Amino acid sequence: MESSVWSRLAPGVWRFQVGEAESLTPLSLLGFTPRSEALERLGEEAFPNSLLQPEIETVGNQTILRLPITPEESLHGLGLQFFKVNHRGRTRYLRVNSDPRQDTGESHAPVPFLVSSQNYGILINTARIVTFCCGSVVRKGAPTNPLRDRGREDDWQPTPLSTYLEVVVGSPHFEVIGIAGSTLLEVVQRYNLYSGGGTLPPRWGLGFWHRVHYQHTDEMALAEAMEFRERGFPCDVIGLEPGWQTKSYPCSFEWGADRFPNPAKFVAEMGANGFKVNLWEHGYIHPSARIYPELEPLSGSHTVWGGIAPDYTLPAAQEILKSQHDTDHLQIGVSGYKLDECDGSELTGASWMFPAHATFPSGADGEQLRQIYGLALQKITFDLFRKHNRRTYGLVRASHAGASPLPSVLYSDLYDHREFIRALVNSGYSGLLWTPEVRNASNAEDWVRRMQAVCFSAMAKLNAWSDSTKPWSFPEVEAIVLKYLRLRMRLLPYLYSAFAKYYFEGTPPIRALTLSETPIAAEDAAHLANEEFAWYLGDSLLVAPLFAGQRWRDVYLPTGDWFDFETGERFVGGQSYRVYAGLDKIPVFVKNGGIIPLQPECDHVPPTGAAVPLTVRHYGDVPSIFRLYDDDGESFDFERGMYRWHMLEVTITPEGDRQGNALAAETGWFSAYESVTWEFIG
Ligand code: GAL
Repeated sequence: MESSVWSRLAPGVWRFQVGEAESLTPLSLLGFTPRSEALERLGEEAFPNSLLQPEIETVGNQTILRLPITPEESLHGLGLQFFKVNHRGRTRYLRVNSDPRQDTGESHAPVPFLVSSQNYGILINTARIVTFCCGSVVRKGAPTNPLRDRGREDDWQPTPLSTYLEVVVGSPHFEVIGIAGSTLLEVVQRYNLYSGGGTLPPRWGLGFWHRVHYQHTDEMALAEAMEFRERGFPCDVIGLEPGWQTKSYPCSFEWGADRFPNPAKFVAEMGANGFKVNLWEHGYIHPSARIYPELEPLSGSHTVWGGIAPDYTLPAAQEILKSQHDTDHLQIGVSGYKLDECDGSELTGASWMFPAHATFPSGADGEQLRQIYGLALQKITFDLFRKHNRRTYGLVRASHAGASPLPSVLYSDLYDHREFIRALVNSGYSGLLWTPEVRNASNAEDWVRRMQAVCFSAMAKLNAWSDSTKPWSFPEVEAIVLKYLRLRMRLLPYLYSAFAKYYFEGTPPIRALTLSETPIAAEDAAHLANEEFAWYLGDSLLVAPLFAGQRWRDVYLPTGDWFDFETGERFVGGQSYRVYAGLDKIPVFVKNGGIIPLQPECDHVPPTGAAVPLTVRHYGDVPSIFRLYDDDGESFDFERGMYRWHMLEVTITPEGDRQGNALAAETGWFSAYESVTWEFIG
């Protein structure tokens, strides 16, 4: 063994226990099995030098884990961070917070998993609050930046830079998982595979989502949905907000007969028109709820909005919630949930969650349950759908470690567009999916820029719960918005295949530019480590959005050739470009050799059993292969081998002509794709 404290869990994954094993950790709560075969396929990796000699120190009731970092090392991840993409030189206090307005590390999803440009990662598998000092604190006698004089040097910087990481946990007991990789992407892949693999959403989940006003009745919701069809705007999912229940804040989870007298009929009618129904809820329970008496003894010491806060780490509490949801929702065809309010805030005057000193019947305390309440609710609803062999896709406002197998997308009430895009770039480091959801806009330009970006995220969504906006709310830019919603639908085969790689290989479908499949060229490294506003969607698309007020932006394209997605114009990478883009365009670049399968425009995702023709674009002048994923799009049968990867291959003749080969028909296999037309671009 490379270091006596570490023991090997899987190829490239090691474990180190500080103190004793805890009974409640994020990974133990989720209980997913590591994807051993996929980890084996990734192969062995040398133990990371940086992790060889962890120092442990106890200071009062805090335990410090200290590791060396090199001066040039960049540090990423730590969950859904809004303010920085490189945490080097920062202290990150990883506490769940619904209102993370400051650059402290607090977050909707404070995941204690750090990844380093030295190609290793470290997870503190605990439900306790963890603080990562990312080279931001300096011990006496240790090297730091040279001494400076603020009074005389104009470029004085406040941040000290030390050469070690100090991780602080308020407990003597925690598990450390160390992960290696030959690239940063491989570190993240191993993290996701060790967590149980990435999620594979149902195909419909990747269509457009619209959440209607919280006071809508069944008729109003249906009428609003039908307006999408009449206007030719794609939409797959209609989300209902708090008012569908008899009580919300706290919740009853029961349909309110005043607004939804016949929920089964409503869900069926929506289904007949190609819409899935998603229900908003949170985990605190109203005294009038049917399940209240059973859950009351299984709840914590403090209430939230007058409702009980069940201890969802208890299997008995999980079962009660599941059984009610099964009867009232799943059995009439509800497709999933938006799990709201599972993150507490004390920052801006609204203090509503149970406190850290709350006690719970399992023995866990409020600090632990606050950190993982969102994780617990995701697991409960996921298990319920899985029992029915139905995939779900939904939303959650708080998450934590090990979440990659969960089919939930994070969102926030905060609304700064740049923060939303940083969160998107950061999400892929930590096994998270995020939507920079659109609600409203200060003007038509802001509206378009937000709509464009959300169409290249894990969930293309308008959340009109209080603003009653529609995609066509700004008529002067309606055509542009429609163009991007339609492009989202056309990209579905590409997107769905990217998610399949998340499931099978742990590769995040949406990720920072540091998470490249090929090793990063030395000259690119510093540019990519600090790129806050560009990301990869799948393996071949690089998305570089503009914000309202911008006519141009600079984007550094990694070494290699790139092509404009729309015009096919060639760009030589390894340098920065000033890209001008009118309102009708979000800059999207395709890697040389990129193959993009597109399906026809459609109002909603084709149902299982329908096959679509594909137009497959190849960009550039190098031969390549795209693996197109194909399954029933809605069940878990793929876990039992019911899927295919079709090879879309482009070869280049000695004369330089491109030839595309695809889709060998297979007897006995029904494919979601019926034919291929090739387009060669660039
Ligand atoms: C918020 C949530 C919104 C909306 C609202 C309903 O906290 O983030 O998206 O669902 O609750 O009360």
